[in-house]
Amino acid sequence: MTYFCIFNILELMDKSSPIGVFDSGIGGLSVLKQFIRLLPSEQYIYLGDTARVPYGNKSNETVNRYAKDCTEFLLKKDVKLIIVACNTVSAVALETIKSIAGNIPVIGMIAPAVNGALRTTVNGKIGVIGTRATINSNTYEKSIKTVNQSDFEVFSQECPLFVPFVEEGLINHPATKLIAEDYLKKLKDYGIDTLILGCTHYPLLNKLIMEILPNVNLIDTGEHAAINAIRLLAENNMLGEEKNNMLSNHKIDFYVTDVPTLFFEIAKKFLGFSVESPTLIKM
Ligand code: DGL
Repeated sequence: MTYFCIFNILELMDKSSPIGVFDSGIGGLSVLKQFIRLLPSEQYIYLGDTARVPYGNKSNETVNRYAKDCTEFLLKKDVKLIIVACNTVSAVALETIKSIAGNIPVIGMIAPAVNGALRTTVNGKIGVIGTRATINSNTYEKSIKTVNQSDFEVFSQECPLFVPFVEEGLINHPATKLIAEDYLKKLKDYGIDTLILGCTHYPLLNKLIMEILPNVNLIDTGEHAAINAIRLLAENNMLGEEKNNMLSNHKIDFYVTDVPTLFFEIAKKFLGFSVESPTLIKM
């Protein structure tokens, strides 16, 4: 039934319309990177609410209000699909976004990552790391448990210091390693075999996390969301045209609510290539 509805909705839309991606800040570029890799023929509009980041330590009410602003901005740009790159927003405000988006499909980070984790785990012990708001919401755990209560155990851990450490460029710093060992110790003791990296910034700590949890499969939420988007667009004949190929020209319409110091350095770290100057907007 759901698929039937999406089919009719997407049929009315233009396949050359951009995909809108938003995040609390620059971190969502780790998600955009996966989209460009897996869906290189799409046009993208990226919005980073850099003036109000971080969302991860804010109340649900505030995150919902901010998410509404971001969604309304992207809808005005006539996007064909909205990607909620921020795990915090996906965890606490997805329903708000879907209700505002109306006919435009919305993909958050939670369901695709959960599906990926369920396909990956062998021993049924799944770890989730994220911001305080994401972990407090329990959304990942609830989503895993709706699939099958008894077959899976979920161990969640908030890692609030990872975001500033990554933004400060301390990816290989001993202090980051010390904090990571502390955060991940319990997950290691529980014997998880799969870990959902439930925050935009954590894929940049992949190597360090793998050193601490060597036998654990890491789930990149952006990658799984992109796989989900491929399926949705392909099944509805809405994939972008080959001529747009992003791998050759890297053109992104980039909007931010503030241009922070070190913006270009941080953006390059997340995306893997330099970005052009963003357009500054007020929301
Ligand atoms: N983008 C956020 C997330 O994925 C991390 C940064 C923030 O706290 O806003 O949860």
